[in-house]
Amino acid sequence: MKNNLILETAHQLLSNYITSHDIMVDATMGNGYDTVFLAKQTEFVYAFDIQEKALFETQKQLDEQKIKNVKLILDSHENILNYVNDFKGVIFNLGYLPHGDKSITTKKDSTIRALKSILPVLKRGGFIMIVVYPGHEEGMNESNTLDTYCKTIDQNQYKIMSIRLPYQDNKPPYILFIHKVKDESN
Ligand SMILES: C[S@@+](CC[C@H](N)C(=O)[O-])C[C@H]1O[C@@H](n2cnc3c(N)ncnc32)[C@H](O)[C@@H]1O
Repeated sequence: MKNNLILETAHQLLSNYITSHDIMVDATMGNGYDTVFLAKQTEFVYAFDIQEKALFETQKQLDEQKIKNVKLILDSHENILNYVNDFKGVIFNLGYLPHGDKSITTKKDSTIRALKSILPVLKRGGFIMIVVYPGHEEGMNESNTLDTYCKTIDQNQYKIMSIRLPYQDNKPPYILFIHKVKDESN
């Protein structure tokens, strides 16, 4: 995690938006680094992954650090609302499990389905943060699909920020931050 400017920036950005009273969702638990980061700064974290290995690795980290304010859920992030619908924000760190099976990666269609389910339940001030990895084939598809989808999101209710390394030629990861700034009703 260290020495990665985008992941470090993602955590700094999160720290600006979350408080110790917030409930957060980690939509892609992986090895648990983001889950642990969130758990230390918020009231409670719901973390999702489709791989048993992710739950195993994350539980190991939680046990080692005696962290208890987390629920680990073996299910796709498309189904987040089946478990929780009142939260400050949701984070996605797309792609595959580092040091794991690279064929089990997030997929554009399920990522978009997850976003479409979450966006309407965000409260004013809530957010979705996505770290996107266009450096592999499925990641590039996902990046293009996200770009198309973000253009359709209501600009009045949501502001979308992107943080990139535009002069790197190795297609590095980037951040998309979707911030709900207004309710439909006002
Ligand atoms: C880049 S890793 C996440 C890294 C993690 N945030 C960390 O701190 O270690 C992406 C994870 O997304 C998971 N994933 C893929 N498709 C998913 C889905 N539909 N729902 C939930 N997790 C999924 C993968 O199994 C993988 O563990």
